Amino acid sequence: MSDPRPAGRPASSALGRWFASRVPFFYANWITTLGSLLAVVAVALLLGALALNVYNVLLERPASPYVDMVTFMLLPAVLVGGVALILVGAAVQRRRRARGEVRTVAIEVGGPEFLRKALLVGLLAVLGLIMSASFGYEAYHYTESTEFCMKVCHAVMEPEGVAYERSPHAHVACVKCHIGPGADWFVKAKLSGLRQVVAVMRNSYQRPIPAPVENLRPARETCEACHWPEQFNGSKLVVREHVEADRDNTPSVTSLVIKVGGHPQPGVRATGVHWHVDRGNEVRYRALDDKRNDIVEVVQKTPDGEVRYLRDGADPADTAGEWRVMDCIDCHNRPTHIYEVPGRALDRAFTDGLLDRGVPWLREATERALFDVTPGGDTAGRVAAYLDSLYAADHPEDLAAMQARRDESAGVLATILARNVFPRMNVTWGSYPSNLGHVDLHGEIDESGCFRCHDDNHLSEDGRAISQDCDACHSLLTERETDPSALPDFVSSVLTRRE
Ligand code: HEC
Ligand code: HEC
Ligand code: HEC
Ligand code: HEC
Ligand code: HEC
Repeated sequence: MSDPRPAGRPASSALGRWFASRVPFFYANWITTLGSLLAVVAVALLLGALALNVYNVLLERPASPYVDMVTFMLLPAVLVGGVALILVGAAVQRRRRARGEVRTVAIEVGGPEFLRKALLVGLLAVLGLIMSASFGYEAYHYTESTEFCMKVCHAVMEPEGVAYERSPHAHVACVKCHIGPGADWFVKAKLSGLRQVVAVMRNSYQRPIPAPVENLRPARETCEACHWPEQFNGSKLVVREHVEADRDNTPSVTSLVIKVGGHPQPGVRATGVHWHVDRGNEVRYRALDDKRNDIVEVVQKTPDGEVRYLRDGADPADTAGEWRVMDCIDCHNRPTHIYEVPGRALDRAFTDGLLDRGVPWLREATERALFDVTPGGDTAGRVAAYLDSLYAADHPEDLAAMQARRDESAGVLATILARNVFPRMNVTWGSYPSNLGHVDLHGEIDESGCFRCHDDNHLSEDGRAISQDCDACHSLLTERETDPSALPDFVSSVLTRRE
């Protein structure tokens, strides 16, 4: 049974008649009606949200990321859905008309009614297009923004975000390293992003978030947008001011010149640290664990040929583990989510004058406090109580001197804890160690970082080892030197703290 009422003119109510006579196109059948309703509501809400945004900007109020998310992602989707329904409804109506199920409304082509409708439809189409294009563009940019990454998963990404904000890459958007240029990685990233959002909603993610990141885009495609090996060359002087863990908190200086190296000129062989990533070279390795610490086999490929190194004692027939081609991330695994080592954070605080070297044993006591106190409600208060009991037990004669500076010291320690230890995500000291060197949490030389390969224990067939020569990567000028007169002049001249 077909509807006895003529199409485009279902004049059942006064409002219906009014509406139908003005916008018959949107009222042809229930599909177009639903579509029009959705579109109208979406446009109205979008305009409202836009007004809210303008209002926030005018009042210099911070915009809410959740409002932004609805504005820039949900509403445009509703608008697009509404327009799609209108088109589907129009197509259905055309088919019905062709089958003669409804009476065709005769419109004279070029006549006044035709012109009016064509103008209306055209105008609405252009408006819809402009709005969805601009909001789509905004939505795209919004999902690419650091704000989106941080706000949508605030609690989950807190450690990474806090570490990032203090790093040299604080103004580089998350996506520059995590997605990079090109459509294929964009799609991959959005899909894996969706999976992550689901994991967060189901509360099924791992804490801490595992590193190395599985399937991180090859670093050469992301980092090299801004840094490339031809750019590095020469050497870099590193001067580190320490404070020893003795009663006097004696200052000391470690200084070294790192052979940053790289590619001096086309055709000239690269030397130094960036030799591994020079265009002509490739280093690949096989690790037994997913942290990539337990490296058994290394293959070095250069224009001169291949050299294979096997860890002393490893069985050459055993092929367990996973191969990986070395890139920037194998050394710079913490380019931006840089967590401190407790000792270094304290050295900085003393050097910057935040902690007082005049308080006996303060360097030693504060390092113990950093390991033993977990941040949470009133961290500073608990640090202060910890210092009290530590001094009362171990250095009662210096308790009063410590208490004179106790509260400000506890405040400094609370800040250091807040940017490195995140109990909610199980992130603590050493959860994310750096591979850019070879020292442990206590500043002692260990087997990590460069020494995973450079341990004099990975041997080629002709008996050569991957070198652990202390001068291969840097010249060590001074190591924890406490005598100021023993420092080279150019090292003393760059110290922040001169006595
Ligand atoms: C300069 C490049 C860079 C930028 C910018 C960057 N990241 Fe990372 N991020 C990395 C690298 C490299 C790793 C992986 C390290 C590894 O695999 O060991 C990583 C790892 C992570 C991890 C896994 C946990 C961890 O700490 O290893 C999370 C989560 C993360 N990043 C989130 C973010 C967020 C959120 C932002 C923006 C606020 C961001 N990243 C910005 C380079 C970057
Ligand atoms: C969008 C550009 C951009 C990308 C992508 C990028 N960086 Fe950087 N990087 C910078 C800027 C800007 C600085 C700061 C330079 C400065 O402070 O002088 C920097 C600094 C650095 C430094 C020196 C830090 C220091 O302590 O002085 C290192 C190392 C570094 N980046 C490594 C990386 C690695 C590894 C990647 C890839 C995971 C990467 N960068 C990706 C722009 C970028
Ligand atoms: C074999 C380990 C290793 C690899 C691989 C490596 N780097 Fe480095 N890079 C270092 C070390 C070590 C330094 C000096 C660290 C310091 O300043 O304390 C350094 C320094 C840098 C600097 C700062 C240079 C300066 O003069 O201050 C940048 C930028 C950088 N690397 C980027 C990269 C990029 C991009 C890649 C990948 C194409 C890469 N590195 C690969 C170990 C490595
Ligand atoms: C996956 C194994 C591996 C890791 C990790 C590694 N290297 Fe290497 N490196 C090699 C191999 C293989 C060679 C070539 C053999 C040699 O020179 O002993 C090499 C050579 C070098 C050279 C000499 C380059 C030249 O001029 O010929 C320097 C300098 C160097 N590495 C620095 C570093 C530093 C610094 C780190 C840590 C930040 C590091 N490497 C981490 C495998 C590694
Ligand atoms: C494969 C390269 C490589 C070799 C070999 C090497 N180092 Fe290092 N060393 C590094 C890098 C990279 C750093 C980190 C520089 C930084 O922290 O900016 C470093 C840092 C250091 C530091 C400073 C640590 C700190 O906490 O500030 C000392 C001390 C040191 N090395 C001693 C040695 C000694 C002793 C040897 C010989 C047994 C040696 N290194 C061999 C790459 C190497």
